[in-house]
This record gives sequence, structure tokens and C-alpha cells, in this order.
Amino acid sequence: MAEQQAQTDGGGVATAGGDTLTVTDNRTGQTFEVPIVDGTVRAMDFRQMKVDADDFGLMTYDPAFTNTASCRSSITYIDGEAGILEHRGIPIEQLCEHSSYLEVAYLLVHGELPTQEALDFWVYSITHHTYVHENIKKSMEAFRYDAHPMGMLLSTVGALSTYYPAAKHIDDPTERYMAIVRLIAKMPTLAAFSYRHNLGLPYVYPDNDLWYTGNFLSMLYRINEPKYEPDPRLERALDVLWILHADHEQNCSTAAVRAIGSSQVDPYSAVAGGIAALYGPLHGGANEAVLKMLERIGTVENIPDFLQGVKDRKEKLMGFGHRVYKNYDPRARIIKKHVDEVLEVMGVDNPKVAVAVELEKRALDDDYFTSRKLYPNVDFYSGLIYEAMNIPTDMFTVMFAIPRTAGWLAQWKEMLEDEETKIARPRQIYTGPRTVDYTPLGQRG
Ligand code: SDX
Repeated sequence: MAEQQAQTDGGGVATAGGDTLTVTDNRTGQTFEVPIVDGTVRAMDFRQMKVDADDFGLMTYDPAFTNTASCRSSITYIDGEAGILEHRGIPIEQLCEHSSYLEVAYLLVHGELPTQEALDFWVYSITHHTYVHENIKKSMEAFRYDAHPMGMLLSTVGALSTYYPAAKHIDDPTERYMAIVRLIAKMPTLAAFSYRHNLGLPYVYPDNDLWYTGNFLSMLYRINEPKYEPDPRLERALDVLWILHADHEQNCSTAAVRAIGSSQVDPYSAVAGGIAALYGPLHGGANEAVLKMLERIGTVENIPDFLQGVKDRKEKLMGFGHRVYKNYDPRARIIKKHVDEVLEVMGVDNPKVAVAVELEKRALDDDYFTSRKLYPNVDFYSGLIYEAMNIPTDMFTVMFAIPRTAGWLAQWKEMLEDEETKIARPRQIYTGPRTVDYTPLGQRG
């Protein structure tokens, strides 16, 4: 692709030129040859373009980084036009069919599928790091009863950095590995504790006899039975959901983890920043917003008025649209298949499902949405499954944060190992006043 992009003249016609961009600065008449590598040009190659010796040189301006590659990565490949998602080259459809969340987490972090021995050791390590220090449990009790679970998760993950001070030694591979294992292991525990806190129920400790997702269900739902027996169909549905949420290249929260991690802070603090970014309704908070939107629509009959409100820009169609996917999000397609299965397992007849299906149908029949390439994304159907599993709406984004932890950490590790990594420090276009004299207090207003 890079070759092809480099050798077209913008009209899509192949030219004889090499992999370079010829730039003429019409302010000076100077011409520059800028190398094209992997379909990109380096922003720093434009700094040489000056009007005089005192000129700082040209910068590139790209708010929200809509057309800026921030790193090289071999973890996740997305083709937004074709609706393709691969982790380390393996299609998401095959991972959902054949793999497990912990095996995908290993793949993301280590770059290859594990041998049986490596997988056993990885699962054993994570299973035996699910507990958190009792003081973390006590600190969670300080939150209001109705504290949002994402606010609790954000705080407690950041607090974990104070329990593992050696994690600051980010250049130590062993410390990096232990922090990765601990965070993947403890996220379900902290998430379940926040759920139990909201309900005023005693916290349930991890059960090391259970699989990762079954253990999470046990920590959520166990009351006084001696042993919680998770429904294997729910365990598997959750495993598939978490595979689908594990990583998604340079999304907002991953970019935040990379930027924070580039200051060489410990990974607990960097992941806390990722949780904060995911919390937003335009990102991971969308699954919670979708359910609230479906509740407000109420019935299929109200859909036309709602969609008109979206077209009138009174609100967004939550769970639709994507910065990269300009086609159906492959994850949404897979999740949609599991909705009916989980509803059947839970014996739930959820009227919101009919509203969601009809809403999708009407939107995809409407030029306003298709012309803007707005299709269902990962968040459109996931909330319906969580609701069917009796998970409260404000826990939905926590259900996103748990599996995304493996992706954040894989990307954090890759960033540290990238010799081009430097502390993230963007430039700006200054629009304010210059050399203004200080006005004494008595002379203001
Ligand atoms: C996730 O990046 C990732 O990979 C994220 C994620 C991951 O796995 O990490 O995939 C997870 O965050 C999925 C997205 C969840 N968010 C939502 O569902 C919230 C609703 N979606 C939008 O807010 C929006 O689509 C974004 C934020 C997802 C993407 O926004 P962009 O790329 O900045 O697109 P845009 O705002 O420039 O929109 C382009 C046009 C605009 O119309 P015009 O002004 O050109 O006329 O589409 C419109 C927008 O107004 N538009 C929508 C819309 N999304 C975009 N109009 C109505 N409803 C929407 N949801």
C-alpha cells in the first residue's frame, strides 16, 4: 500500500517518481524532496521549510490526530473501509471462534499464540494474582454508596501504584511482566468490588478454581452459596465479548496510555489514565449511553421522531459511527449474534432488543447515516448483553475497561520497546496576545 500511495500523482495514476513528495514552498520558491515511508511523511521533514533563518519552520496541524500516525505497531490491524480487525494478523472472527480472552491477552502482549506450557503458566500467574491488598478494599468503602464504578476503578487502579513501588522500574522486564500480570488479574476483582459496593453487598473474594470470566461472575453474583457455579454459556459469551474489546490500535484511551507511559511513569498510573479516557461517552461510555438512549426511545413507534432529532443535531445516535470503521464494525456483527443466545440463557425477553434492531434497520436505510458512513460500532449491542446478565448500566463501561487492560498494556510495552519513543509533547498554534504589560489590580475592570 505504501508503495502504491508513494507512486501515485494524487490522481491515482502511477508515476515514475520514487517514494518521495516534492514540495515547493511558494513563499520562497524553494523545492524540497520529502521521503514517503509506509504511506507517511515525517512531520519533522517540514521544519526545514522556512521563510528566513529566524523562522521556526513549518509544523503540521492535526487536531484530534485524524490523519496522524503516532507510532509503529504490530499489535492490531484495522481496515476501516473493509471492516477488518486482526490481532497480530489473526482475524477477530477466528479468535472469537477458537481462542479465549486470556489466550488473546497473551497474543497481544507477547506477539504470538502461546504453547500449551506457556498458556498454562500465563493462566496460572494471572489466576494467582487476582487478590488485592485489604487496604484497597478498605479504601473502596470510603466511596459514596452510589459512586460511579468507573470513578472507583479509575481511583483504585491509580492507588495500586502505591502498593507496587517497584513497578516504577519500567526498564526491568521482570517488573514490566509482573505489572502486566497483576493488572490483568486484578481488574475483574476491583470491578466486582465496585459493583458490590454500589449494592451494599459484602465483597466476594476471587475463586481460583474458576476460569477468568467465571471468577468475575462469581465475584459479582455469589451470595451465600458455598461455591458459585457460573453458567458455562455465560462464561463463554463474556469471554467472546472480552476478546472483542481487548485492543483496537490507537483509540483514544490507548493513545492516552501511550502518552502517559512515555513520561516513564509506572503502568498502574498509565492504565488509570486509560480508564479515565475510556470513561467518556464518545468512547467506552457509549455502551452505557446506548442503553439510556434505547430506554428513552421506548418503543419502535418512537424511532422516526428520534432519528429526526438526530438529523436535527439535537443528539447523536449512540453506538453508531467510528473514526476508523466506515463500514459495519466487525465486532458489532459478532456481538449481535450473541445477544439472542444470552437472552435465551437468561430467559429474558428484552423489548429494547426489538427497538435496537429496528433502529439499526431504519438508520441503515437512511441516507443521512449511510452518506456519513455511520454504522453500528462495538458499543451498539454490547449493553443489551450486559443488561440481560443483570449487570447495571453504570457497570457497562467497566465491562469494557476490564478486557481493554490487556490491549493497553500490550501497547504500553510496545511503546517502551520502541527505540523511537520519546516523551509525548505536541506543539500548538498560539492564538493569544503577546507582550502584554501587567495591569495592577486597582486599574482593572
Ligand atoms: C469506541 O477509536 C476506537 O477504536 C474506539 C473503539 C475502541 O474499541 O477503542 O472502537 C470504541 O469508542 C467506539 C465508538 C463509541 N462511541 C459512540 O458510539 C458515540 C457516538 N459516535 C460518535 O460520537 C462518533 O461517531 C465517534 C466519536 C465515534 C467518531 O467521531 P468522528 O470520527 O470524530 O466523526 P465526526 O464526529 O467527525 O462525524 C462525522 C459526521 C459528522 O456529521 P457532519 O458534521 O459532517 O454533518 O458524522 C456525524 C457528525 O455529526 N456523526 C454522527 C454520529 N457520529 C458521527 N451523527 C449522529 N450520530 C452519531 N453517532
